[in-house]
Amino acid sequence: MTPSTPFTAHNIVLDDGSETKPGGQEPALDWWFDAARRCLSALYPDGFGNLRIADLGCLEGGFTVKFARLGFAEAIGFEVRPSNFANCMFVKQGLTLPNLHFVNDDVWNLEKYGPFDVIFCSGVLYHFDRPKAFLDLLARMTLRVAIIHTHYATVAPIAAYQLSDLDENEGLPGRWFQEPGSCSDHKWASWTNERSFWVQKEYLIQAIHDAGFPMVFEQFDHFGPDIAGELTAASPKHANRGMFVGVKDQAKVNL
Ligand SMILES: C[S@@+](CC[C@H](N)C(=O)[O-])C[C@H]1O[C@@H](n2cnc3c(N)ncnc32)[C@H](O)[C@@H]1O
Repeated sequence: MTPSTPFTAHNIVLDDGSETKPGGQEPALDWWFDAARRCLSALYPDGFGNLRIADLGCLEGGFTVKFARLGFAEAIGFEVRPSNFANCMFVKQGLTLPNLHFVNDDVWNLEKYGPFDVIFCSGVLYHFDRPKAFLDLLARMTLRVAIIHTHYATVAPIAAYQLSDLDENEGLPGRWFQEPGSCSDHKWASWTNERSFWVQKEYLIQAIHDAGFPMVFEQFDHFGPDIAGELTAASPKHANRGMFVGVKDQAKVNL
């Protein structure tokens, strides 16, 4: 069996020992997943056997597979782009993981499928032109934890990306990023919107909080072993990307 289009990022070892991206995947993808796994293991010390997780904009399903292997009751990857979804189904057919599912839909329709205990929102918030509205939807669909791995804007221009001058959108400062738009064939891009808005970092954290996550923190181990190196000018591409965790306040009582 061969996939209809080559895998662009995720190397998944299938049951027959074959690899979806022979030669391997970017080490950063493992760092991102390991960071999410560490966070969730700390927040759920009793394991994941009763929990549903959604993996938004799952591309080829690599993270969804890892969450299924981690033992989530249901790991559901959402992917709007038909060519990526076909590769997700190729993965599903090559694995014996009954808790692994994929949905071919726009994540703006998440309300049809939620809520979820955990939502992993990696590499997709910065492809939206209304990130604040999406964070509100995310918070409505999250029972406890949302892990948001995303680019953000800064007051200083970002050398690695061609972004607009500072602007305001949905009441938040940030910068615009040009997308191919119009349901393009670019497998990593936005779906319909022609441009995306990268919120300025401090306001992004505030927006995650205000959306309904009283506990919000930035996690740094997604940068891999050389955190300081990734955060310096040596790697501006990665330095403008963060892993932000929003946690609902389940234990709130009147004290
Ligand atoms: C940059 S890739 C990120 C892939 C993966 N989540 C990661 O972190 O490596 C963005 C993915 O989101 C998908 N995507 C973009 N807009 C979407 C939408 N509105 N609904 C569902 N998927 C979307 C794209 O097709 C692509 O697979």
